[in-house]
Amino acid sequence: MNKKVLGVLASGRGSNMQAIVDAIDAGRLNAKIGVVISDNPNANVLKRLADSDVPVTCIERKNFAAKEEWEAAIAAELNAHQVELVILAGFMRILSPYFVNLLSGRVMNIHPSLLPAFPGKNAQEQAIRYGVRVSGCTVHFIDEGMDTGPIILQEAVPVESDDTAEILAERILHVEHVLYPRAIALYCEGRLKIEGRRVIILEKGEELYED
Ligand code: GRF
Repeated sequence: MNKKVLGVLASGRGSNMQAIVDAIDAGRLNAKIGVVISDNPNANVLKRLADSDVPVTCIERKNFAAKEEWEAAIAAELNAHQVELVILAGFMRILSPYFVNLLSGRVMNIHPSLLPAFPGKNAQEQAIRYGVRVSGCTVHFIDEGMDTGPIILQEAVPVESDDTAEILAERILHVEHVLYPRAIALYCEGRLKIEGRRVIILEKGEELYED
Protein backbone atom coordinates (compact mmCIF):
# COMPACT_ATOMS: atom_id res chain seq x y z
CA MET A 1 0.00 0.00 0.00
CA ASN A 2 1.26 3.50 -0.83
CA LYS A 3 2.30 5.66 2.06
CA LYS A 4 -0.26 8.34 2.94
CA VAL A 5 1.20 11.83 3.17
CA LEU A 6 0.65 13.62 6.47
CA GLY A 7 0.80 17.35 7.17
CA VAL A 8 1.35 18.23 10.83
CA LEU A 9 0.24 21.55 12.32
CA ALA A 10 1.88 22.26 15.68
CA SER A 11 2.49 25.31 17.85
CA GLY A 12 4.64 24.14 20.73
CA ARG A 13 6.56 21.30 22.31
CA GLY A 14 6.01 18.77 19.54
CA SER A 15 6.02 15.53 21.54
CA ASN A 16 3.06 14.12 19.57
CA MET A 17 4.75 15.02 16.30
CA GLN A 18 7.83 13.18 17.62
CA ALA A 19 5.73 10.13 18.52
CA ILE A 20 4.40 10.08 14.95
CA VAL A 21 7.92 10.33 13.51
CA ASP A 22 9.03 7.51 15.83
CA ALA A 23 6.05 5.32 14.84
CA ILE A 24 6.92 5.81 11.17
CA ASP A 25 10.59 5.01 11.81
CA ALA A 26 9.63 1.89 13.78
CA GLY A 27 7.37 0.65 10.95
CA ARG A 28 4.20 0.94 13.05
CA LEU A 29 2.79 3.62 10.77
CA ASN A 30 2.92 3.34 6.99
CA ALA A 31 2.94 7.06 6.28
CA LYS A 32 5.22 9.91 5.36
CA ILE A 33 5.31 13.41 6.83
CA GLY A 34 5.05 15.76 3.84
CA VAL A 35 5.36 18.97 5.83
CA VAL A 36 5.25 20.32 9.38
CA ILE A 37 3.71 23.78 9.70
CA SER A 38 3.86 25.94 12.79
CA ASP A 39 2.26 29.29 13.52
CA ASN A 40 4.95 30.02 16.09
CA PRO A 41 8.54 30.70 14.94
CA ASN A 42 9.89 29.78 18.39
CA ALA A 43 8.07 26.46 18.65
CA ASN A 44 10.14 23.60 19.99
CA VAL A 45 8.58 21.38 17.32
CA LEU A 46 10.63 23.29 14.71
CA LYS A 47 13.86 22.76 16.68
CA ARG A 48 13.18 19.03 16.91
CA LEU A 49 13.18 18.81 13.12
CA ALA A 50 16.13 21.11 12.49
CA ASP A 51 18.41 18.21 11.52
CA SER A 52 15.82 16.10 9.74
CA ASP A 53 14.83 16.08 6.08
CA VAL A 54 11.15 16.77 6.89
CA PRO A 55 10.10 20.06 5.26
CA VAL A 56 9.25 22.56 7.98
CA THR A 57 7.67 25.96 7.62
CA CYS A 58 6.25 28.70 9.80
CA ILE A 59 3.14 30.60 8.73
CA GLU A 60 2.38 33.28 11.29
CA ARG A 61 -1.13 34.58 11.75
CA LYS A 62 0.12 38.13 12.21
CA ASN A 63 1.38 38.28 8.64
CA PHE A 64 -2.16 38.05 7.24
CA ALA A 65 -4.93 40.62 7.59
CA ALA A 66 -7.76 38.09 7.61
CA LYS A 67 -7.89 34.67 9.25
CA GLU A 68 -9.08 33.04 6.03
CA GLU A 69 -6.06 34.39 4.15
CA TRP A 70 -3.77 32.81 6.74
CA GLU A 71 -5.71 29.54 6.52
CA ALA A 72 -5.58 29.67 2.71
CA ALA A 73 -1.79 30.00 2.94
CA ILE A 74 -1.67 26.92 5.20
CA ALA A 75 -3.95 25.00 2.83
CA ALA A 76 -1.75 25.99 -0.13
CA GLU A 77 1.35 24.72 1.69
CA LEU A 78 -0.40 21.44 2.50
CA ASN A 79 -1.45 21.09 -1.15
CA ALA A 80 2.05 21.89 -2.36
CA HIS A 81 3.25 18.86 -0.39
CA GLN A 82 0.37 16.63 -1.57
CA VAL A 83 -0.85 16.20 2.00
CA GLU A 84 -3.73 13.73 2.34
CA LEU A 85 -4.34 13.86 6.10
CA VAL A 86 -3.77 16.84 8.40
CA ILE A 87 -2.68 16.16 11.97
CA LEU A 88 -3.24 18.83 14.61
CA ALA A 89 -0.59 18.19 17.24
CA GLY A 90 -0.79 20.88 19.87
CA PHE A 91 -1.93 23.48 17.34
CA MET A 92 -3.08 26.36 19.53
CA ARG A 93 -5.38 28.17 17.13
CA ILE A 94 -9.00 27.51 16.33
CA LEU A 95 -9.56 26.85 12.66
CA SER A 96 -12.52 28.50 10.98
CA PRO A 97 -15.40 26.72 9.21
CA TYR A 98 -13.70 27.75 5.94
CA PHE A 99 -10.67 25.55 6.70
CA VAL A 100 -12.74 22.76 8.25
CA ASN A 101 -14.94 22.52 5.15
CA LEU A 102 -12.00 22.74 2.79
CA LEU A 103 -10.47 19.63 4.36
CA SER A 104 -13.60 17.95 5.67
CA GLY A 105 -12.95 14.49 7.14
CA ARG A 106 -9.22 14.87 6.61
CA VAL A 107 -8.15 16.71 9.77
CA MET A 108 -7.50 14.92 13.07
CA ASN A 109 -6.90 16.35 16.51
CA ILE A 110 -5.86 14.92 19.86
CA HIS A 111 -7.33 16.33 23.05
CA PRO A 112 -6.18 15.52 26.61
CA SER A 113 -9.54 14.50 28.09
CA LEU A 114 -12.28 12.00 27.46
CA LEU A 115 -14.51 14.16 25.28
CA PRO A 116 -17.17 15.48 25.49
CA ALA A 117 -15.88 16.17 29.02
CA PHE A 118 -13.51 19.11 29.41
CA PRO A 119 -13.15 20.57 25.90
CA GLY A 120 -11.01 23.64 25.26
CA LYS A 121 -7.96 24.81 27.14
CA ASN A 122 -6.49 23.33 30.33
CA ALA A 123 -8.42 20.08 30.06
CA GLN A 124 -6.28 18.37 32.70
CA GLU A 125 -6.85 21.17 35.18
CA GLN A 126 -10.57 21.10 34.44
CA ALA A 127 -10.60 17.35 35.19
CA ILE A 128 -8.84 17.80 38.53
CA ARG A 129 -11.08 20.69 39.59
CA TYR A 130 -14.17 18.69 38.71
CA GLY A 131 -12.94 15.76 40.77
CA VAL A 132 -13.25 12.99 38.20
CA ARG A 133 -11.55 9.66 38.99
CA VAL A 134 -10.84 8.89 35.35
CA SER A 135 -9.69 11.08 32.49
CA GLY A 136 -7.70 10.31 29.35
CA CYS A 137 -7.36 11.39 25.76
CA THR A 138 -9.43 11.49 22.59
CA VAL A 139 -8.45 11.43 18.93
CA HIS A 140 -11.17 12.91 16.76
CA PHE A 141 -11.83 14.41 13.35
CA ILE A 142 -12.40 18.13 13.58
CA ASP A 143 -15.67 19.81 12.80
CA GLU A 144 -16.76 23.42 13.16
CA GLY A 145 -17.06 23.23 16.96
CA MET A 146 -14.45 23.26 19.71
CA ASP A 147 -13.31 19.64 20.26
CA THR A 148 -16.71 18.36 19.11
CA GLY A 149 -15.91 16.32 15.99
CA PRO A 150 -16.50 12.58 15.45
CA ILE A 151 -14.44 10.48 17.87
CA ILE A 152 -11.95 7.97 16.49
CA LEU A 153 -10.22 6.51 19.58
CA GLN A 154 -10.22 7.21 23.32
CA GLU A 155 -8.21 5.82 26.17
CA ALA A 156 -8.67 6.34 29.89
CA VAL A 157 -6.13 6.97 32.64
CA PRO A 158 -6.80 7.16 36.38
CA VAL A 159 -6.83 10.48 38.21
CA GLU A 160 -5.17 10.12 41.62
CA SER A 161 -6.23 12.18 44.63
CA ASP A 162 -2.91 13.99 44.90
CA ASP A 163 -2.47 14.66 41.16
CA THR A 164 -1.55 18.13 40.01
CA ALA A 165 -2.53 19.21 36.48
CA GLU A 166 1.10 18.67 35.46
CA ILE A 167 1.25 15.10 36.80
CA LEU A 168 -2.04 14.21 35.14
CA ALA A 169 -0.93 15.84 31.89
CA GLU A 170 2.22 13.71 31.89
CA ARG A 171 0.25 10.51 32.53
CA ILE A 172 -2.14 11.34 29.70
CA LEU A 173 0.69 12.34 27.36
CA HIS A 174 2.23 8.85 27.54
CA VAL A 175 -1.06 7.44 26.30
CA GLU A 176 -1.42 10.14 23.63
CA HIS A 177 1.89 9.08 22.12
CA VAL A 178 0.53 5.58 21.51
CA LEU A 179 -3.06 6.45 20.65
CA TYR A 180 -2.41 9.14 18.02
CA PRO A 181 -0.15 7.02 15.78
CA ARG A 182 -2.66 4.18 16.15
CA ALA A 183 -5.56 6.37 14.96
CA ILE A 184 -3.48 7.72 12.08
CA ALA A 185 -2.54 4.16 11.10
CA LEU A 186 -6.24 3.21 10.95
CA TYR A 187 -6.86 6.16 8.61
CA CYS A 188 -3.86 5.25 6.46
CA GLU A 189 -5.15 1.68 6.18
CA GLY A 190 -8.52 3.02 4.93
CA ARG A 191 -10.28 1.67 8.02
CA LEU A 192 -12.07 4.79 9.27
CA LYS A 193 -15.53 5.53 7.93
CA ILE A 194 -17.38 8.62 9.17
CA GLU A 195 -21.14 8.11 9.51
CA GLY A 196 -22.62 11.29 10.95
CA ARG A 197 -21.20 11.68 14.45
CA ARG A 198 -19.85 8.14 14.56
CA VAL A 199 -16.60 6.80 13.21
CA ILE A 200 -16.82 3.15 12.20
CA ILE A 201 -13.55 1.20 12.45
CA LEU A 202 -13.58 -1.26 9.58
CA GLU A 203 -12.09 -4.72 9.88
CA LYS A 204 -9.05 -5.58 7.81
CA GLY A 205 -10.36 -6.62 4.40
CA GLU A 206 -13.16 -4.01 4.46
CA GLU A 207 -10.90 -1.04 3.76
CA LEU A 208 -12.33 2.07 2.07
CA TYR A 209 -9.54 2.56 -0.42
CA GLU A 210 -6.88 0.46 -2.03
CA ASP A 211 -3.63 1.46 -3.66
C1 GRF B 1 -1.16 17.61 24.02
O1 GRF B 1 -1.51 17.47 25.36
C2 GRF B 1 -2.39 17.45 23.15
O2 GRF B 1 -3.34 16.59 23.68
C3 GRF B 1 -2.94 18.86 23.11
O3 GRF B 1 -1.82 19.69 23.08
C4 GRF B 1 -0.71 19.01 23.67
C5 GRF B 1 0.38 19.03 22.66
O4 GRF B 1 1.60 18.55 23.18
N1 GRF B 1 -3.82 19.04 21.98
P1 GRF B 1 2.84 18.32 22.21
O5 GRF B 1 3.14 19.68 21.56
O6 GRF B 1 2.46 17.30 21.19
O7 GRF B 1 3.96 17.88 23.09
